[in-house]
Amino acid sequence: MSQSESVLECQDLKAKGNLPRHVAIIMDGNGRWATRRGLPRIAGHQAGRRSVREVVEGCGELGIECLTLFTFSSENWSRPRAEVRALMRFLHQVLIEEVKALDENDVCLETIGRREDLPPEVNEELDKTMERLKDNKGLRLILALSYGGRRELVDCFQKLMGEVQAGRLRPEDVDEAMVERNLYTGDWPNPDLLIRTSGEMRLSNFLLWQLAYAEIYVTDILWPDFRKADLFQAISEYQKRDRRFGRVG
Ligand code: IPE
Ligand code: IPE
Ligand code: MG
Repeated sequence: MSQSESVLECQDLKAKGNLPRHVAIIMDGNGRWATRRGLPRIAGHQAGRRSVREVVEGCGELGIECLTLFTFSSENWSRPRAEVRALMRFLHQVLIEEVKALDENDVCLETIGRREDLPPEVNEELDKTMERLKDNKGLRLILALSYGGRRELVDCFQKLMGEVQAGRLRPEDVDEAMVERNLYTGDWPNPDLLIRTSGEMRLSNFLLWQLAYAEIYVTDILWPDFRKADLFQAISEYQKRDRRFGRVG
């Protein structure tokens, strides 16, 4: 798709209104992309960097508030050590190399997940990058790193039970709003649209609470092949959905 076509479509989508406030993406299929080309799996992760750039740009152009990218799951630690190490090194390098472009695009960076599991050099670079981008008012880019939805719920329950034990909270005062405030995602709006690439029809422990009423869009495209036009296609599909939230349409 040419630049002018994609610009036109961006304007069309905006004109329709009804854009998602928060888009979440399970960026899947990097390994298969590489294997099909006879390349090592890490080449697929590296190729996915362009796709990240394109969706960040696309969300910025549309004026979307939040974009959460499933970057590394709590289960991904069980992959071969060499792949995990290569992924961490790559993340470190990308943070250094992309910060300028993110800043120019007015992007603010946040994370969810167990940062304490990450190598110290990655954590340091994350702190530096988030500090540099913290006053930006455009897209909120949220990286899910060492993230697991079940663990997030356990962490939330432990926090609330600690409050009960300390006598600061009564069990009957726990409601949905309180649970939500004590998740990693705090006060962010829940995702309206979940995109998963590579055709897999599962959540893989991603945002279990927050995705309760997200519209799900699965595409067979592998993550390294996902382009801005594909994001716009997913958003256009979202705009046609009838979100009933259990009511009669
Ligand atoms: C997604 O691609 C990236 C991460 C999970 C880090 P995969 O590495 O899962 O690619 P496939 O699913 O094996 O093709
Ligand atoms: C989900 O993809 C995690 C990320 C995209 C970071 P996986 O490839 O790890 O999920 P499964 O193993 O296919 O469920
Ligand atoms: Mg996968």
